Amino acid sequence: MKPFYLTTPLYYVNDRPHLGTAYATITADVLKRFQQLFGRETKLLTGTDEHGQKVEQAAKKRNLSPQVHSDEMAENFKTIWKELNISYDIFYRTTDDFHVKAVQKALQDLFDKGDIYQNSYEGWYSVSEEIFYTEKDLVDGRSPEGKEVVKVQETNYFFKMGSYQKALLDHIEAHPDFILPVSRRNEVLGFLRQPLNDLCISRPKERLAWGIPLPFDDDYVTYVWFDALLNYAVAVGFNREGMEDDFKKWWIEGEVKHLIGKDILTTHAVYWSTMLLALGVPLPTQIFATGWILNKDQGKMSKSQGDVMNPLDLKNHFSLDGLRYLMIRDVHMGNDAPFSLETATQRVNADLANNLGNLLSRSTNLVSKFYDGKKPQTGDLENCKHLIALGAELPGKVQNLVDGMKPSFALEEIMSFLSETNKYLEDRAPWKLVKEDEKAAGEVLANALESLRIAATLLSPVMPESMDELLRRIGYGKVDFENAKNWNVIQDGAAVEKGDPLFPRLQ
Ligand code: MSP
Repeated sequence: MKPFYLTTPLYYVNDRPHLGTAYATITADVLKRFQQLFGRETKLLTGTDEHGQKVEQAAKKRNLSPQVHSDEMAENFKTIWKELNISYDIFYRTTDDFHVKAVQKALQDLFDKGDIYQNSYEGWYSVSEEIFYTEKDLVDGRSPEGKEVVKVQETNYFFKMGSYQKALLDHIEAHPDFILPVSRRNEVLGFLRQPLNDLCISRPKERLAWGIPLPFDDDYVTYVWFDALLNYAVAVGFNREGMEDDFKKWWIEGEVKHLIGKDILTTHAVYWSTMLLALGVPLPTQIFATGWILNKDQGKMSKSQGDVMNPLDLKNHFSLDGLRYLMIRDVHMGNDAPFSLETATQRVNADLANNLGNLLSRSTNLVSKFYDGKKPQTGDLENCKHLIALGAELPGKVQNLVDGMKPSFALEEIMSFLSETNKYLEDRAPWKLVKEDEKAAGEVLANALESLRIAATLLSPVMPESMDELLRRIGYGKVDFENAKNWNVIQDGAAVEKGDPLFPRLQ
């Protein structure tokens, strides 16, 4: 199995994380943990994008130098990711020394190769998106996304992006999974069927001081996207001495996936891809564009819209794992998703408090009460053949759905397996059966515990802490994907423990 390298976008440090940014990061963490569960070596990168005008302005507002401001904000991100149990391997900051050097080397190489040239530039710039626009891109005097733009007229450096248009088109056409979902792929193909302009990649220092100096002209700093996008490759060794083996392992031979929001599709699918083509570096395996978490007015939840939710408040309300579950279960990757407290509360109650929670508490309570807290003996499996069959199929189904970037559907499958188990328990009613036939009732409970083990194993990437606790309570105590395909794995007599509800019902 190839090593799996997954990245989130680098977040601008103009703002603290909110539910929208937390969504992307939680999703990435869950996907990484799933691949780990499936037995792969994994690496997850997240971090902060610290240069450019937007950050410079945010720092100025706080009367801080951009570096001091960025240092503080980067810490905020780290703290919140820790609170959300994000298991990143790399926290990347674009002001780190090695990044600056690697970017400058890339720029110098492209300059030497003739892929960067100087010219005068006249056009528009959106600071909030950090994007250059031409006159004809504008809609009613604003960016196509409706953002404010300012006129820019200055001599600048350009990257010959247009020269790589054909090579990029060919690559996209030859690799149907390179850009997903398909609707986004089509969007990029449409964009690339128009002539592709060269990309302005510098800003004069007198206009913008906060950036990486161009190695071949000290009067300029690098355009923030041209700097930040390189992070993904530099993080695993590109343009870094002594990291050649890492780069080969993770980038050249590994599976590389970039998880991004749909609003930054062009910068990734077009700018980043052509940069890589020019640098002679293989393109990532996949760029997957997620949708947005929407606010009350069905707009993108973002600070500039005002209406942001704090992920830590939501954690307090739903519990950490409740929130993580919600982010995966109720957002089909690639689609926009509204977030409302009412629907989210119903979801946590139905899936976690009732379906999963009741099964756990009924089984462990009965085992405590009638079997002295020891897992009863398994015996005749005839009466639960259908559950065993469902359980045996489930890990494979989940793996396929996750590999296909459909984790919400994987959770749906797991929940329906748990519902079947609850039905089985209702049918067999071990709480009554135990009075007539203790052995038969014990067998039913043993089967319920096996179901719980399989489901909890498959849910552990989404809810690591509570599933560890669940697996401990049912007398198993580990997360083992290989065994999730098998029945009768928990040892007879293993210590089963009842406890407080893992997911108390929410009001
Ligand atoms: N700094 C750039 C990315 C550089 S990557 C080399 C940037 N930063 S950002 O902080 O503005 O946004 C980061 C990501 O957060 C984007 O993918 C964006 O789509 C995502 N989200 C911001 N608000 C969001 C929602 N409301 N919902 C889902 N994702 C959201 O762009």
